Amino acid sequence: MTITKYPRAAFIDLAPETDSFEQAVLTGLRASPKAISAKFFYDERGSRLFEDICNQPEYYPTRTELRLLQDHACELASMIGDNSTLIEFGAGALEKVRILLDALDRPAGYIALDISGDHLKAAADSLAQDYPHMPITAICADYTRSLTLPKDLIDKSRGRTVGFFPGSTIGNFSSQEAHQFLETIRPLVGADGLLVIGVDLKKDPAILNAAYNDKAGVTAAFNLNLIHRINAELDGQFDLDSFAHKAFYNEDLGQVEMHLESLDNQIVTVAGHSFTFSKGETIHTEISCKYAPQEFQALARSAGWRPLTVFTDKMKLFSLHVLSAD
Ligand code: TRP
Repeated sequence: MTITKYPRAAFIDLAPETDSFEQAVLTGLRASPKAISAKFFYDERGSRLFEDICNQPEYYPTRTELRLLQDHACELASMIGDNSTLIEFGAGALEKVRILLDALDRPAGYIALDISGDHLKAAADSLAQDYPHMPITAICADYTRSLTLPKDLIDKSRGRTVGFFPGSTIGNFSSQEAHQFLETIRPLVGADGLLVIGVDLKKDPAILNAAYNDKAGVTAAFNLNLIHRINAELDGQFDLDSFAHKAFYNEDLGQVEMHLESLDNQIVTVAGHSFTFSKGETIHTEISCKYAPQEFQALARSAGWRPLTVFTDKMKLFSLHVLSAD
């Protein structure tokens, strides 16, 4: 009998401090305007709905970024060089990094960081089956806080260390948070390191509004899942039918804003506390900032990075920046 032992990813738990869902919700509903952090979207149902958003015809970022990676894989590989180590921040299904890994010359290793340990572990193990000869490390950590990775994890005597941050997740930070994040990760890649980062572009508001209001209602379901979660986990009494998904491009601020709008005057209790909503009042749940190429390069420079190149598609929907840490 042969026992097939599949390669597995190494797993390191840096035990990120997780904010309590209850505290965040109660504080957010007491605030004015009301707001709840987007990181609470991603329970199991939320993660599934998000993958579904990525497949909606109106949601252009995922497929456009995949195309950019495919079209420029060779160029990226020659900039990165051989024996490199990739570090991905916030690992989803790990579909995008495969394009890079396949183009690279003898990659020395892959490290994925994510706050959601279980999800990350499963995704990293499945990647390990397809790349059995490359060391893969999954690290459960909050990369928005200061990060120290275990020593010796990256062998700097090999090739470059390259950060990878796709999906325009940087847009979900305020510009201050984005600056902070870019500063935090620069020492991780070292002086000859690079960052490959996907950034959604400013564009015709009609395209943006459609992308965040897909006809099938998946983004709406994803947004409303937050109050679904509050009802299930925090003894919340939200009436899901009296709240609606509201997403629009705020041209002045250059950001898509996601809200949950109260369709009536109402009082909602959560964990024994009451909250008053007037008709039309919203809970702000997410921003998605859009950057023209030069705007993002200026932000990157202010955080110590040197822009090397930027790839965009013909329709100027999405951008992929390459930054150097030196
Ligand atoms: N990074 C993605 C974006 O800004 C996240 C996202 C897409 C998202 N659709 C969403 C977040 C809907 C919240 C709600 O495009």
